[in-house]
Amino acid sequence: MADPVLSVRDLQVAFTTPRGLARAVRGVSFTLAPGERLGLVGESGSGKTTTALALMRLLAPSARIEGGQARLDETDLLAATPAQLRALRFARIALVPQGAMNSLNPVLTCGAQIEDLFAAHGVRGGGSARIADLLAGVGLEAGVARMYPHQLSGGMKQRVCIALAIALGPRVILADEPTSALDVIVQKQVLRTLIAAQNRLGAGVILVGHDMGLMAQFAHTVGVMYAGRLVEIGPVRALFQDPRHPYTRMLIASLPRFDRRRSFVGIPGVAPSLLDPPPGCPFHPRCPAATPRCAAEAPGEQVLADGRRVRCHYATEPAIAA
Ligand SMILES: Nc1ncnc2c1ncn2[C@@H]1O[C@H](COP(=O)(O)OP(=O)(O)O)[C@@H](O)[C@H]1O
Ligand code: SF4
Ligand SMILES: [Mg+2]
Repeated sequence: MADPVLSVRDLQVAFTTPRGLARAVRGVSFTLAPGERLGLVGESGSGKTTTALALMRLLAPSARIEGGQARLDETDLLAATPAQLRALRFARIALVPQGAMNSLNPVLTCGAQIEDLFAAHGVRGGGSARIADLLAGVGLEAGVARMYPHQLSGGMKQRVCIALAIALGPRVILADEPTSALDVIVQKQVLRTLIAAQNRLGAGVILVGHDMGLMAQFAHTVGVMYAGRLVEIGPVRALFQDPRHPYTRMLIASLPRFDRRRSFVGIPGVAPSLLDPPPGCPFHPRCPAATPRCAAEAPGEQVLADGRRVRCHYATEPAIAA
């Protein structure tokens, strides 16, 4: 594969809260190649958004990046100055934020918001033809430029957000749950739009979500997050055919299937506290395969023959049915 466009090593982010330090991202490492689609999946609170915001350097003031590296080509994202960040955002790394459709400015037309972005980055010749092209690229008619966000459906607003994210041709696009508020049909259309835009740009994309089914259709590589850690990451096919972390197995087993008369079954138990995480493996209180060792010793990362990285003591042992 080509050299990575984004390379993240041992990223650590913590929030200061009234009840202590919440370590929301604990040693996340991955690379993203041009044209690659990485899906980051995990239940709510597992650190997906915090990871994305850390890379954009858009974390809340209560958050601190406590360690790690993140390189976008030759740029060290974690050391970039505010002026460098203003120049980088949208132009080289862009975010479709969680709840993006609500991030559009309600008092500006969609076209004006795109024009503002061009102007902020000193792009000349923005003009209505260019805006129409951009909108066409996300499946919207030119007339949308004259409309206000409240005049658009959820799917259309999400497409405008994607148009903003791709407007300056970034190398990396981070899309945080871009389809979660949409119905299934529109979800697929919006994802196809994102993929088409990515292919035109040759960009790397990180899609954040909690829907394993959507990841299976979208991603080349899937990373599963649990309590701030990547517990399994690897090629989508290998991960679905032979998941090696019990949590991945449970996420896949919980997918609705046509041949089973049951719909989504959640994973029993609750996500651990980040203020006071369980000792040993953070998944052990919920893990059907846990042994006494799991409560005492945190698993390191094992690298499998297919390149997968898995944080479980028993990653290379025969699967125990979840
Ligand atoms: N602004 C914040 N202040 C304090 N803690 C936060 C804040 N945002 C997120 N967190 C903590 O970080 C954890 C990870 O959150 P987040 O990255 O939003 O998860 P996800 O996107 O996977 O649902 C949460 O469990 C939460 O406790
Ligand atoms: S280390 Fe133990 S508790 Fe953790 S996922 Fe593996 S088997 Fe389960
Ligand atoms: Mg989130």
